[in-house]
Amino acid sequence: VSVGAVLVAAGSGRRLGALGPKAFVPVAGVPLVVHAARGLLAAGVDVLVVTVPEGFVEQATTALLGAVPRTDLWVVEGGPTRQASVALGLAALDDDVDTVVVHDAARAFAPPSLVAQVIDAVRSGHGAVVPGLPVVDTTKRVGPADASGARPVLETPDRDSLVAVQTPQGFDRALLDRAHAAGAGRACDETTAASDDAGLVESLGEPVWVVPGDLAAWKITTRTDLARAERLASGEKTPHDKVPHDRPAHNLPAEPDAAEPAGAVCEPLPAEET
Ligand code: CTP
Ligand code: MG
Repeated sequence: VSVGAVLVAAGSGRRLGALGPKAFVPVAGVPLVVHAARGLLAAGVDVLVVTVPEGFVEQATTALLGAVPRTDLWVVEGGPTRQASVALGLAALDDDVDTVVVHDAARAFAPPSLVAQVIDAVRSGHGAVVPGLPVVDTTKRVGPADASGARPVLETPDRDSLVAVQTPQGFDRALLDRAHAAGAGRACDETTAASDDAGLVESLGEPVWVVPGDLAAWKITTRTDLARAERLASGEKTPHDKVPHDRPAHNLPAEPDAAEPAGAVCEPLPAEET
């Protein structure tokens, strides 16, 4: 009976520009993935699985072992989409994990209080929980672009009924496994893959619950976000920046798991065109 986290850090960070994988970009001298891991562990997560890009397992393991005060840490390669990466992370989680939070390394400064609130909501019987913030902009549903690139507005949904959702998202483990197994056919292609895990649970017809989100859990996407993160991290100290750094480095990267991943196993992508 324990809480596991899948921290997805296998993206390329295309929108950040050519800085290498986003999760390895340092803020205040510390890679984003390490900031994110500290936040999860400070909230009482027992087991942490981190998915990283191909070729980054060693680098990530070294960085995490040097910086987080826990031994139950596994680093595995992710997949071609976020959905595939989560599925591969889930497959590496111990069987005794019954509550899972899935978190984006790009939301590196999600406070431990938010993580704990999501875990509590799952433990109190909500099988799928997402943090959500009120939408400040009027939001419109649009159709395909015409020849000039303009897109027709189809609908203006009532703003009070909309929330912008964040991670960490929390789940009953069996429910999340079932959702990823059912959605495995969508996992390998960015045009079909689910952009969050709650969406896969919704596709099962199971309820998903929203709890209040936190502005500090915003997703670092652009250079502007990175600059904001740098300002925040160098200015104020958050509790999870104060965890001890003297943890012995005796863990190893996870062996590829014998069990089938909950989701699809994706073929390697063809080399990217330049
Ligand atoms: N992610 C992942 N595996 C993928 C794609 C994304 O683990 N194949 C992770 C990213 O590392 C990130 C989270 O999913 O922590 C949210 O994705 P996003 O913010 O879009 O990050 P990137 O895909 O890296 O950025 P971009 O879309 O700009 O390339
Ligand atoms: Mg992306």
